[in-house]
Amino acid sequence: MQHNLRVFYRDPKELIPNQLNADISGDPQKNSRYQELLQSIKICGILQPLIVTKRNRIRAGNMRHHIALSIGLTKVPCLEEIDSDELLKVEAVENKEQIIDNYKTVSHDINKGDTPYSKLMRIKILEEYYGIRQGVRIDKSPEIKQAKEKRDKIAPQTERTQLKAIEKNLELAFPDDAEKQKEYWGKVGTGKSVIAAVKETKMLAVKAQEPEDLDERFDYITDQIKIYNQSCLDLSNIPNKSIRAIIGSPPYHLMKPPQEGFENELGQEETAKQYALNLLELYLPCKRILLDDGSIWIVINEGVKNGSYTGAVEWLIVLMLENGFILNDVLIWAKYNTQPSGGNRSTRNFEYILQFTLKPVPKCDFTWLNGFEPLNDNVFGVGAGIKLASFIHLKEGFVKTSVANTGRLREACEKEGFYLEHSSTYPPEIPFVCIKTSCQKGDHIADLFNGCGSTAKAVLYAADMDITYHGFEINPVSVRASKINIEMDFGKQSNGKTKEFKPTTDNSTPKVA
Ligand SMILES: C[S@@+](CC[C@H](N)C(=O)[O-])C[C@H]1O[C@@H](n2cnc3c(N)ncnc32)[C@H](O)[C@@H]1O
Repeated sequence: MQHNLRVFYRDPKELIPNQLNADISGDPQKNSRYQELLQSIKICGILQPLIVTKRNRIRAGNMRHHIALSIGLTKVPCLEEIDSDELLKVEAVENKEQIIDNYKTVSHDINKGDTPYSKLMRIKILEEYYGIRQGVRIDKSPEIKQAKEKRDKIAPQTERTQLKAIEKNLELAFPDDAEKQKEYWGKVGTGKSVIAAVKETKMLAVKAQEPEDLDERFDYITDQIKIYNQSCLDLSNIPNKSIRAIIGSPPYHLMKPPQEGFENELGQEETAKQYALNLLELYLPCKRILLDDGSIWIVINEGVKNGSYTGAVEWLIVLMLENGFILNDVLIWAKYNTQPSGGNRSTRNFEYILQFTLKPVPKCDFTWLNGFEPLNDNVFGVGAGIKLASFIHLKEGFVKTSVANTGRLREACEKEGFYLEHSSTYPPEIPFVCIKTSCQKGDHIADLFNGCGSTAKAVLYAADMDITYHGFEINPVSVRASKINIEMDFGKQSNGKTKEFKPTTDNSTPKVA
């Protein structure tokens, strides 16, 4: 009898759930293991193949199938259904010698106490020796039943999945280098948690496969979305008085480690004042490109250093005011998914959205809010008197773009062969509010700190406004990620008929006061 013992891949849409199991177990989402399995599949993918018949009927794996469909996986690993007795004959007997050898190589680890590595080895030995696979029937073999119980005692399923993911990642990260793999395993469980190792090895695995030209300049230019892989210190490609709004979020002061390969990156300054001065240097030239009734929207926050909030935001406000900008509005973006923080102070669950302008009467229109009242807590009033509340929370959002999902973006980047390291993104909903309030149809806008392109996505959400976007980003990897970020939600963008600027002649850049 011929059996397909190799893993093959199927589009989950082609697979038919096991109706009998579904009837017995009910809605998979109500199963207590569902969330745990969902998280594990999001991190590691599906490691245990589904068991399917020749006609694509699922024998085992309804829940994995359900999750695969819900998170949009396009292929899942499968094994063809096989009788457990056959499997034992084919696998266990053939590999016995090898398995015993493997056991010997890990037994010294076991004597020292179980490390994650020795656990994995013991699990693999049990699985190989007894032919334990998803879908193998235990009712026919008490031996397999016992072996499964033993395996569960060594590590429950989630941990087994994690250990196997580390192994798979290390093989990709250090191919043919058993020493390096072993060296890494030595750190797992001693100082490095298993879950941290899953994440890190995933990153190492993806990085090992990255293309060599990843550091080279990468611009993304379409009709509507233009992302220049250059510092916003150089705005020379933007004509005078051509931009209605500059919307974006700079790297925050001392909140993240510097990006590798970028000297003197903004945010790494010793003092908050120096940080604010450096930011001011970037915003002053915006006076040249901004239309007189235009706005600069800055999404920003600050952290605690030596027991005190640094005042980075307050320094920036003072310096901007001293240099002739008007602080037209201060919005608070309230965040409901913040982790509790330490220290003798409240957990900060907001960020500032500052609106600076050149004139006391900027372009401002709240009528777009009509239709969102009266149930939306972000909206005050009705009709012509309608206004945005300055306390914005996305629970009652405007476009329901959901939260910024960097996990999904990171996965998409991995599929394209590179690892997305830096990704402090905001949800497109935030710049969407700024665009709708301060821009008009056909405008050009800019983001000095493009990141992964959330402001560009907001432009596309506000499709009726027909805005052209100009983003500046120093990191070519982030520009590549932006392209993916945009195209995964809005498809490939056309490139052929860009809307021209209407430049004026004033070319002066003001000096710091
Ligand atoms: C906080 S992130 C912006 C995230 C963005 N709002 C999003 O949602 O994707 C700041 C970005 O600014 C970039 N950056 C830092 N200094 C820059 C500069 N001088 N010019 C252009 N980009 C810069 C960083 O590489 C980083 O991607």
